[in-house]
Amino acid sequence: MSEKLADFGLIGLAVMGENLALNVESRGYRVAVFNRTTSVVDALMNGRAKEKNFIGCHSIEELVKSVARPRKIMMMVKAGKPVDELIDQLIPLLDEGDVIIDGGNEHYTNSERRTQYVESKKLLFIGTGVSGGEEGALKGPSMMPGGSPAAWPLVKPIFQAISAKVGPNHDIPCCEWVGPGGAGQYVKMVHNGIEYGDMQLICEAYFLLKAGLGLTNDELYDVFSEWNRGELDSYLIEITRDIFSVKDPDTGNYMVDMIVDKAGAKGTGKWMSQLALDLGVPSTLVTEAVYARCLSALKDARTRASKVLSGPKGVKLVADKKKFVEQVRQALYASKIASYAQGFVQLQAAAAEHKWPLNYGNIALLWRGGCIIRARFLERIKEAFDANPNLENLLLAPYFTQAIESAQVAWRDVVVKAIQLGIPVPGFTTALTYFDGYRTERLPANLLQAQRDYFGAHTYERLDKPGAFHTEWIQLRRQPS
Ligand code: 6PG
Repeated sequence: MSEKLADFGLIGLAVMGENLALNVESRGYRVAVFNRTTSVVDALMNGRAKEKNFIGCHSIEELVKSVARPRKIMMMVKAGKPVDELIDQLIPLLDEGDVIIDGGNEHYTNSERRTQYVESKKLLFIGTGVSGGEEGALKGPSMMPGGSPAAWPLVKPIFQAISAKVGPNHDIPCCEWVGPGGAGQYVKMVHNGIEYGDMQLICEAYFLLKAGLGLTNDELYDVFSEWNRGELDSYLIEITRDIFSVKDPDTGNYMVDMIVDKAGAKGTGKWMSQLALDLGVPSTLVTEAVYARCLSALKDARTRASKVLSGPKGVKLVADKKKFVEQVRQALYASKIASYAQGFVQLQAAAAEHKWPLNYGNIALLWRGGCIIRARFLERIKEAFDANPNLENLLLAPYFTQAIESAQVAWRDVVVKAIQLGIPVPGFTTALTYFDGYRTERLPANLLQAQRDYFGAHTYERLDKPGAFHTEWIQLRRQPS
């Protein structure tokens, strides 16, 4: 091939792949692209890639030959089997030290397995989280790479060039090495779980303000605009604000009111909940958020039930509008802190299990820009972990302890009012319950241990001496009269 070789190869030209390829090229790199349906390659070459620094390829062999060594070839294809099949097609064509990169949302165990497999073939593997949707992929995503540590220096310049930038000079990349094996994908999964929590909390705030307080979409727009100027300043609050302003061109009604209240899910939130249960850590926010989506999806059943089951009768929200909006804002902020605290605790538990040397301040920085949960608040999380890398729980960082302290009266009021009104707020409630459980030195688990020992001789520990103890409860109990 006479033409100059490419610096980067990309397979899979759906929206995310195509945008990432354009992003890489826009930073001064030559990019070779391939898609299984090759007409997609031609469409790109004759369209958005026209007169740009691309090599369009019609086979995997051609793509591999077009990329300079050590090759960096990224797959943006459907997660699961298609990735494994592609890896098997690539392996015989590649040379020692080449890097295979998977940029899809993938279960971290698959990235662990693939790292080992690809390394056994004397190649390198990266499983990277890429967040920010289509626009992020094109203009600067948040990237969370993990896999073969030796691959990082090879891809670092390209990855950091294409990623989002934060900081006063917009020069700090939201892309840093996360850790070996599946660490990058694990961090991306926790990002998504936190995203589920944030979205659920925002929806609960919306429901309270709409169903409880009777705010119109215009008023909701103003409330979210205001919130976006303060502690809650974030991408998800911003897009929620925008949503309240959009009207359906066909009917002229607000679009949000025309959408069926049935939530979908692709599964990353569920993975985080399942793994939290495996680790024995209480990630209740994401779990409630997943369940809330499941309950919403039972639309037909809910419609039938709504005709039979009724909530509290005659209870009206008597509230100063302005005050209640502010209370909901505080409840949302406090719940969000609890949610992030849980996410980082899960990361710490996973890091301990897998011996991943995770840097939590850096992870907060990766999420500071580019991704779906990007928010001003992540700067505070970074500061908290920078000040104390072994911080046991975000709730114990002085800034957040204080933030919860100031918000908790409103938080409790909002949850009480929601319960009185019969408005479901599983996210707000579980966040508050987690906070109350976590700050309580003595929980009723002493009784639970006694019950377990009573019926199953499961033993218990004592407050006054070490060891495992069993009591003959039946012999010692008060004999029923
Ligand atoms: C991102 C998003 C992205 C995707 C989620 C949506 O970081 O850019 O998280 O990964 O939008 O998969 O997940 P659900 O379809 O499960 O809501």
